[in-house]
Amino acid sequence: VTSELSIPVHAEAHEPDLGRPIRAIIYGVGSMGKVMTRMMLDKGVDVVGAVARTHNVGRDLGLVAGMGRQLDVRITDDAQKLLSDRRPDIAVVAVGSYLEAMAPHFRLCLDHGVNVITLEEEAFHPWRRASELARELDALARSRGATLVASGIQDPFWTSAVSTLMACAHRITRVHGRSTYDANEYGPEVTEYLHLGVDVDVAAVRIEGAYARGEDNVAVQTSLEALAALVGLTPTEHESSGVPLVAHDDIHVPALDRIVPKGSTIGVSDRMVLHTHEGIDLEFELQGYAFGPHDCEVNEWRVEGEPNLSMRNDQFPVRLATATTTVNRLPDVIAAPPGLLTVELLPPLRYRHGHFRHPGRTR
Ligand SMILES: NC(=O)c1ccc[n+]([C@@H]2O[C@H](COP(=O)([O-])OP(=O)(O)OC[C@H]3O[C@@H](n4cnc5c(N)ncnc54)[C@H](OP(=O)(O)O)[C@@H]3O)[C@@H](O)[C@H]2O)c1
Repeated sequence: VTSELSIPVHAEAHEPDLGRPIRAIIYGVGSMGKVMTRMMLDKGVDVVGAVARTHNVGRDLGLVAGMGRQLDVRITDDAQKLLSDRRPDIAVVAVGSYLEAMAPHFRLCLDHGVNVITLEEEAFHPWRRASELARELDALARSRGATLVASGIQDPFWTSAVSTLMACAHRITRVHGRSTYDANEYGPEVTEYLHLGVDVDVAAVRIEGAYARGEDNVAVQTSLEALAALVGLTPTEHESSGVPLVAHDDIHVPALDRIVPKGSTIGVSDRMVLHTHEGIDLEFELQGYAFGPHDCEVNEWRVEGEPNLSMRNDQFPVRLATATTTVNRLPDVIAAPPGLLTVELLPPLRYRHGHFRHPGRTR
C-alpha cells in the first residue's frame, strides 16, 4: 500500500525558520512523556506546552517530569487552546497505542498545521491494519502542510538495524526476531495490555479473544510490515498468537506496587510470522513482562540464508532508547514532506550532537 503513496515533490526551498530552536509540546505526560521532556530540553528544544487528561493538570511540567525545577509550563487538558495559542512546530504524542483512539488527538494537531511525532504503535506502519483511518489522516496532514510520523524502539531495533543485518546476506529464507521488555518501566497503558497480576486462565481467554477479533499485537505487526517495506518485500498473509507468561514465584511488581502471586500472569508473549510474496518469512516474538532481579531486556535477530547472520543486544534499554530515538527524529519530521509518513520514507535515523535547530521545511 505504501507504494501507492506519492511523496509530494519539493517545489521550492523556503526555509524562513532555518536555525531557530524547535518549539514543541509534549502531549501525554506519562512515563514516556516525562523522560522525553528532559531529553528535549537537553537538546535545546523550546518546550512550550504540555497536555494531560486528569493527573497533573494544572501542575508545572518541570516538577512533574522530575526536573527538580519549574519550567513555567502549566500542564493543560485543553489541547485545542494550547495549539492555537502557542503554535508549536511539533507535538510529541505519547498517550495510547491504537490509531482509532489516537486519531482525534492527531486530527487536532494536524488541523492546526502542527507536525506530530508519536510513540503510537499502529501509526508506525498502519497501511494494512488501519488503512482507512491512515488515508484520512494522510489527506488531512497534506491539506494542512503537516507531517505525522510514528517512531519508538521499533524504528532502530526492529526495523532499520534488522534491515542492515539483512543487507549483509546474499539470499534469505527466514528472519526471526525476539525482544523482551520490562513492564515495570511503563504506565497503565502498557501494564493493562500485559494483564499483570490477572489470573492466567482469565488472561489466556482475553488474549485469545483479542487475537480472534484480529487484534494482533500492534507493535509486532507494524514492525514486521515496516521491515518488509524497508527491504522491498511484499507481505501476503500472516499467522499470529499470544500467550500469558506465568509467575514462577511470588514477585513484587513495582508497576502495580504489590506482590503478584506465583501462578498469576506477569506478562504476555506475542508472536507473528509475516509471509511475503518473495518467499521470505519474517517472524517476531515480543515478550513484555514484569522483570525479576535477574532478568534483562534482550533484542536478538537471526537471518537464515547465505550466510546465516545474527545480532543480539543485551541490557537493551528499551524505555530510554524509545525516548532517544523519538526525540532524535524531531528534525526529520519537521523537515519531511507533509502527510502520514512511515519510517522507510524518512532519512536514516542518526545521532544528533548538541542542540537541535529548526531544519526549515521544503514544501
Ligand atoms: N513505540 C514504542 O517504542 C513505545 C515504547 C513505549 C511506550 N509506547 C506507547 O506510548 C504510550 C504511552 O506510554 P506510557 O508508558 O508513557 O503511558 P502512561 O504512563 O500510561 O501515560 C499515558 C499518558 O497519556 C495521557 N492521556 C491519556 N489519555 C489522554 C487524553 N485523552 N488526552 C491527553 N492525555 C491523555 C495520560 O494522562 P493522565 O495520566 O492524566 O490520564 C498519561 O499522561 C503507550 O501507548 C505505549 O504503548 C510506545
